[in-house]
Amino acid sequence: MDSKYDDEKDIEQRLKLMTHRQITGGLWEEIGTLQFEFMKRMGLRPASLLLDVGCGALRGGVKFVEYLDGDNYFGIDISQSLLDAGYAHEISPRQDLAAKLPQRNLQCIDTFDAVSFGKQFDYALAQSVFTHLTLNSIRLCLENLAKVVKPGGKFCATYFRIPDDQPTGVPQQHQSGIVTCGNKDPYHYRVADFQYVIRGLPWTLDDELDWEHPRGQRMLVFSKAA
Ligand SMILES: C[S@@+](CC[C@H](N)C(=O)[O-])C[C@H]1O[C@@H](n2cnc3c(N)ncnc32)[C@H](O)[C@@H]1O
Repeated sequence: MDSKYDDEKDIEQRLKLMTHRQITGGLWEEIGTLQFEFMKRMGLRPASLLLDVGCGALRGGVKFVEYLDGDNYFGIDISQSLLDAGYAHEISPRQDLAAKLPQRNLQCIDTFDAVSFGKQFDYALAQSVFTHLTLNSIRLCLENLAKVVKPGGKFCATYFRIPDDQPTGVPQQHQSGIVTCGNKDPYHYRVADFQYVIRGLPWTLDDELDWEHPRGQRMLVFSKAA
């Protein structure tokens, strides 16, 4: 098992004890607003088509659906129960949001393959998802997203960074206190790891930046070849 989100039975059990907001990391308003404001700075506009990869219970989704034109927000996640909880608690009670987000726009997919939506997206975002994935899964994500992001489109993904000269086997304590590892969730990576996995794929790594995430995750900005 790669991550704590891979076991759907465990997620279902945890949803009986905790809220969907807590299970997907808490700091609901803060991290929801942070990702929304970041994507607007990247050029997201109401007419943009956005794919939220590992959208979970829609912490960012609520903000994006409020802002985007109807039917322009799409999400995929490995957990059907998190998608269901997010829709039931965050979308259904608000008629303005429910009218803009058909439930079919949220799909339980564990391969990052979103071709079934039949869309070409301007933007894709994976907020606090690579932190739970092995490098093989990250490569699969980049391979499959390349099929659904428009030429010139952007994919923004957060991760925990270690210096390029640090052995991956050494646990790293981040300023937030979180300890990341090379071989278990939460994972850390070097920038060089991403430069390696995009070889042969139609992505360039445009930027790697501190976007003031409260837990110290950094942001990668990939561009799809035009
Ligand atoms: C920390 S939560 C973040 C959720 C959301 N992006 C947010 O900001 O609230 C991580 C999410 O990644 C999802 N996830 C983990 N592995 C995945 C995979 N292989 N494919 C799709 N989603 C995955 C989890 O189910 C969970 O919803």
